[in-house]
Amino acid sequence: MSIPIAVTDRVFVLTGAGISAESGLPTFRASDGLWAGYNVEEVCTPEALRRNPALVWEFYAKRRADCQKAAPNLAHFALAELEARLPGRFFLCTQNVDDLHERAGSHNLVHMHGELAKSRCERECGRPPVEDHVIYANLDQVPRCPCGGRLRPHIVFFGEIPLEMPRIEREIAECTLMLVVGTSGSVYPAANFVHWARQAGARTVYIGPEAPLNAGAFTHIVEGKAGEVLPGLFTVA
Ligand code: APR
Repeated sequence: MSIPIAVTDRVFVLTGAGISAESGLPTFRASDGLWAGYNVEEVCTPEALRRNPALVWEFYAKRRADCQKAAPNLAHFALAELEARLPGRFFLCTQNVDDLHERAGSHNLVHMHGELAKSRCERECGRPPVEDHVIYANLDQVPRCPCGGRLRPHIVFFGEIPLEMPRIEREIAECTLMLVVGTSGSVYPAANFVHWARQAGARTVYIGPEAPLNAGAFTHIVEGKAGEVLPGLFTVA
C-alpha cells in the first residue's frame, strides 16, 4: 500500500510507544510492557509522587537510562524525512517521553505527555522545566529548585493535563491527513484525535501490528511494524 500526499495536504502525525518498540523500548500495555511490571498508581500519579517520591524517581531514572541507551529506528527516520519533504505542512505530536524523534531529525513536534530528558519543580513554582540527563541513584541525589522544592520528572502523570493542547487542537483542525502510529488508543485525549480529524474532514490512517481500540474511526489501517512499513509508505506529489 502507498499513501499519496497531495500538494494541498497538511499532515498531522500522532505517535505512541509502538514506534519506539523496534528501538528496544518497552510499550505500556503489552504482556511484558511497563504496566505489567509496575502499578500505575505507584509511579505515575501526583499522589504517588507525594507518597513515595523515591519509587517514582527509581522508575523514571531507569526509563531515562534505557532511553539514553536506545537509538532511533527506521520509523523515526521515515517521519523525519517526511517532515523535510513537507516544509510548513507537517506536525508531529508524540505521546512518547523519549527523544528518539528529535535524534532522528524531527523538528516540528510536541511531547504531550512530557519528556524524560527534562525535570521540573515539584511545587509547580512557575519555573520552566530544565534539561536533565542525570540518572539519579537515589532520592538524595535529586536536586532542588531555587524555590526549595525537589525536582520531579517532567512527565504528565495520570490525572494531570497533557501539554500543548491548544496548539495540538489547532493543528488537528487544519490537517487534511492524520497518521497515527503505534498507539493502542487506550488513553485520552490522544485517543480522540482521530475523531476530531474525521470531523475536520481529514483522511485518517493507522499504522501498527494490531488494531487499536479506536480502529473504527480510521479510513485506512496499515498492518505491520512501523520500522518495516513507514519507510517508502508515502508518495509525495
Ligand atoms: N510498530 C508499531 N506499533 C507497534 C509496534 C511496532 N513495532 N509494536 C507494538 N506496537 C503497538 C501495539 O500494537 C500497541 O497498539 O504499539 C501500541 C502500544 O500501545 P500502549 O502500550 O498502550 O502505548 P501507548 O498507546 O503509547 O500508551 C499511551 O498511555 O501509559 C500511558 O502515558 C502513557 O503515553 C502513554 C499512553
